[in-house]
Amino acid sequence: MVTVRALRAKKGTTPITMLTAYDAPTARLIDEAEIDIILVGDSMGNTSLGYESTLPVTIDEMQSRTSAVARATTDALVVADMPFLSFGVDEAASIEHCGRMLKEADADAVKLESGPHTVELTERLVQLGIPVMAHLGLTPQRVKEVGYSRQGTDREEASKILELAKAHAEAGAFSLVLEHIPANLATQVTDAIDIPTIGIGAGAECDGQVLVIDDVIGLSDRTPPFAKQFGDVKSEMEKAIEGYRNAVTEGEFPAEEHSHVESDLDKLY
Ligand code: KIV
Repeated sequence: MVTVRALRAKKGTTPITMLTAYDAPTARLIDEAEIDIILVGDSMGNTSLGYESTLPVTIDEMQSRTSAVARATTDALVVADMPFLSFGVDEAASIEHCGRMLKEADADAVKLESGPHTVELTERLVQLGIPVMAHLGLTPQRVKEVGYSRQGTDREEASKILELAKAHAEAGAFSLVLEHIPANLATQVTDAIDIPTIGIGAGAECDGQVLVIDDVIGLSDRTPPFAKQFGDVKSEMEKAIEGYRNAVTEGEFPAEEHSHVESDLDKLY
C-alpha cells in the first residue's frame, strides 16, 4: 500500500505517478496499473459533471465520488480535492469538510488549491492527522481572476510561488502539485523543498507527474497544451454505441443467445 511516508521517501529517487479518477471502474484500472496516487480531482466538474468550470462542484459530489474511488482502490493513495470555498473561509468548517473526506469517504489525504490563506490551515489539518497535498501555480478555482493561463512567468510571481511552496512544506504538506508554470521555476521549487513536487505542465524535473485521466485516455473535448493523449477511448465508445444502435434498429440484437424462453409460458391468452 502506498503511504504518505513512502511517497515522501521517493523524492529525488523514483518518479511519482498520479492520475485523476472519478468513479470505481476507472480507479480499479489505475490501481491495478500500480499508479502511486489517485486524485479525485475537482476537474470532475468539467470532465464528468458537465459544468463549465470546477467552481460549482459541491462537497457532497466530492464525497460521493471519493467514496466510489476509495471502494475500488487497494494500493494507491486516494486524495480528495477540496472544492471551491469548502476550505479557507472558516477554520472549523474547513476542518469538518476535510475530515469528512477521511472519516466518511475513506480518502487518505486531501488536496487544497493553495495560497497565503492555506498555510495555517495546512498546519492545523496536519496536526489533526489529515495529510495535505498543496497545489500552486495555475489553480483553476481562481479561473475568474486568472483564467487558465501559465503562472509564475515574471520574477515577482515566480518568487511568490517559491515562497509559498516553502511555507507549505514547512507547514507540513506531504507533497505539492505545480500546475502550468515554467519548467525552470518548477526545478527551483523542487530543489528548494524537502517534499515531492508533482508537475502538470511544469516540466520534467518535478519529483512526479499528474494528468487528468480523460486527457490520457482520449475522452476530452479539449486537451490542454501540456497534456499527452495515450489512448483513444472516445472512438472506441463511438464505435460501440453506433454498433448497438445499428444492431437494435436492424433487428440483430437481441439474438437468440441473449434471450430466454420458458415453455410453460406459451399461450397465456
Ligand atoms: O482537479 C484536478 O484534476 C487537479 C489536477 C489537474 C492536479 O487539480
